[in-house]
Amino acid sequence: MRILTDDELPAADAIARHVAVPADRPKDQALVRLNMIASADGALEVSGRSGALGNHDDSLVFGGLRAAADAVVVGIATAVSEHYHAPTGAEPPIYVVAKEADVAGDPELFATGRATLVLPEDAGPTPDGVAALRVGTGGRVDLAGLVAHLAGKVVMFEGGPSLAGAMVSLGLVDEFFLSVAPRVVGSGAARVVHGLAADTTPWALAHVLVDDEGFVFLRYRRV
Ligand SMILES: NC(=O)c1ccc[n+]([C@@H]2O[C@H](COP(=O)([O-])OP(=O)(O)OC[C@H]3O[C@@H](n4cnc5c(N)ncnc54)[C@H](OP(=O)(O)O)[C@@H]3O)[C@@H](O)[C@H]2O)c1
Repeated sequence: MRILTDDELPAADAIARHVAVPADRPKDQALVRLNMIASADGALEVSGRSGALGNHDDSLVFGGLRAAADAVVVGIATAVSEHYHAPTGAEPPIYVVAKEADVAGDPELFATGRATLVLPEDAGPTPDGVAALRVGTGGRVDLAGLVAHLAGKVVMFEGGPSLAGAMVSLGLVDEFFLSVAPRVVGSGAARVVHGLAADTTPWALAHVLVDDEGFVFLRYRRV
């Protein structure tokens, strides 16, 4: 049995190691890193938001992954429900996957041009001033095309669960960072990745952290 935890390291160093970009990643492809949080019983949100599940260390993991990223990819429903803000300063640009050119749910996010709406070619016209990337047809973004567009970049992929299901089923997610909150939430909350055919292929457990509050931070690598 291998020990994967960093029991003796200061918290900041342990988290830095947890999120470190693999040195041997292929530089001509995107490295897509999915980050999600769930309760111990698998709920991904409380009252429509994931924030109620997190703690300070989860924020540090999230921040570490964002700091290591060249780009963020997220589904439109998550951007709206989690009230995403436009990136500022050194924060990576955000790509928001949607079916329609409708930014009414979070207009501020798109106001600075550092958030790009990712749409199928046949979606309607983009509102003035909104940056758009068009890839795919038939009302669906070609997710493989989007990842190809981001070749060479470290991509933090922030879900939500239906977009994550589509990305995982296409083999487009390279790493899965899962924070497990010590809560048994119940409710009818969905799972963190869902929607498509079941796949029992094992992923490699690359790293584990446990904090003083009982949060477990898991890092898996697609084999
Ligand atoms: N716990 C966590 O870490 C975490 C993380 C993120 C979000 N969340 C929670 O998850 C909930 C949102 O979940 P969600 O699954 O609805 O959000 P989502 O994945 O962010 O967005 C779903 C939307 O994206 C569309 N979409 C998916 N694939 C597409 C494609 N290839 N091309 C164009 N559009 C595509 C979907 O269309 P279709 O319906 O047609 O497929 C749907 O309209 C929120 O409550 C949020 O708080 C939790």
